[in-house]
Amino acid sequence: MEDKDLIAHAREAREYAYAPYSRFQVGAALHGRSGRVYTGCNVECASYPAGTCAERCAVGKAVSEGETEFTAIAVIGDSQGPCAPCGICRQVLCEFSPDMRVIMTNLEGDTLILAASELLPGAFTKTDLPDA
Ligand code: THU
Repeated sequence: MEDKDLIAHAREAREYAYAPYSRFQVGAALHGRSGRVYTGCNVECASYPAGTCAERCAVGKAVSEGETEFTAIAVIGDSQGPCAPCGICRQVLCEFSPDMRVIMTNLEGDTLILAASELLPGAFTKTDLPDA
């Protein structure tokens, strides 16, 4: 799948964002190794820390359907520059596919593409756990 198509999926998913508190709507589209695409949006909550980012929404959908390896994720928000995943999302993306391409973009089309591992240098990973 071409980047522009994955971005189009993310843009569509952003329409479903539930962001009444921050008013910052984010969409994500995750491309699995199987070829399937899993979309996500941010889902906020009156208890603020209970909210979830678009990226982890998409990862949760994929993993719950048996897909755990990914080639790319597109993330879109109305940010000034390319919409960058938060630290927790970087950790979760690295958990599954550190080599995946993270396509960060905004509504104007400003885009930055990096590997998930580049977004989290020196990450703590499963190999750091004693019994891994
Ligand atoms: N957010 C995401 O969903 N993904 C990002 O990449 C950045 C931030 C959400 C979390 C929260 O609902 C809102 O954007 C403002 O931080």
